[in-house]
Amino acid sequence: MILLKNISYKYSQSSRYALNHISIDFKKSEFVSIIGHNGSGKSTLVKIIMGILTPTEGEVYIDGEKVTEENYQTIRDKFSIVFQNPDNQFVGATVEDDVAFGLENRGVPHETMKEKVELALKEVGMWEFRTHEPHRLSGGQKQRVAIAGALVTNPDVLIMDESTSMLDPIGRRDILSLLKEIHKKRDTTIIYITHDLTEIEDSDYAYVMNKGEIASEGKVYEIYEDTDVLKESNLVLPFNIELSEALMQGEYMSYEELVKRL
Ligand SMILES: Nc1ncnc2c1ncn2[C@@H]1O[C@H](COP(=O)(O)OP(=O)(O)OP(=O)(O)O)[C@@H](O)[C@H]1O
Ligand SMILES: [Mg+2]
Repeated sequence: MILLKNISYKYSQSSRYALNHISIDFKKSEFVSIIGHNGSGKSTLVKIIMGILTPTEGEVYIDGEKVTEENYQTIRDKFSIVFQNPDNQFVGATVEDDVAFGLENRGVPHETMKEKVELALKEVGMWEFRTHEPHRLSGGQKQRVAIAGALVTNPDVLIMDESTSMLDPIGRRDILSLLKEIHKKRDTTIIYITHDLTEIEDSDYAYVMNKGEIASEGKVYEIYEDTDVLKESNLVLPFNIELSEALMQGEYMSYEELVKRL
């Protein structure tokens, strides 16, 4: 559904390429993770996918259609994105106003809008907070509202660009399990961006980025087994992987398996 063909990108102020010959074929309805250290090019890649940046080299196809200057505005409507800091994203004075914003922009009739906002807020468990001010919510609640705002337009693709990195580990788990629920219920393709290897465990597929390149890709257990690539990419190995590596010389074990073995 999103096909990146040999994408390279260089910021005009920079001498280095931020992305170097990236090819990815995102399949419809998959939960895909992109993992990489600071500056590896994850957000640049997102901006290319969303049509915010035009690749220096290479092509982007969305549902078989090549993205061009002329059509990217319409194509963009298929995507929603949630960023790291929700405070920069809030536009409404109340939670429900904020979630309604994307619909107002598209000229959705008032009654339909009310229904959609209610559904989206219920889906993320924030309906009872509808009259609250977004800025006064907790970090996790803010992200829930941001997710509701992203889902309310019923996008084909939801992109989470390190959206949980400001939350504590419990808050992160919370948002991740909410996303998995959403993914089960809806047809939405989810692209989950993170630098935390423990967060990709349940993804259908994952890409490791390092210095603007895809260092590896595969099913999550394949990613976890290639510890050399993970270390070269400056990623912190989760405890169970480090321990399985020490015990099993490379064969990946989940926490559960590991506990059983021990
Ligand atoms: N506006 C810009 N102008 C010049 N260089 C930039 C710009 N934005 C990003 N870069 C550079 O491009 C490279 C990739 O940055 P990018 O933000 O895509 O990485 P990232 O993986 O999202 O990092 P982070 O984990 O910090 O969010 C980095 O070397 C960064 O310094
Ligand atoms: Mg980034």
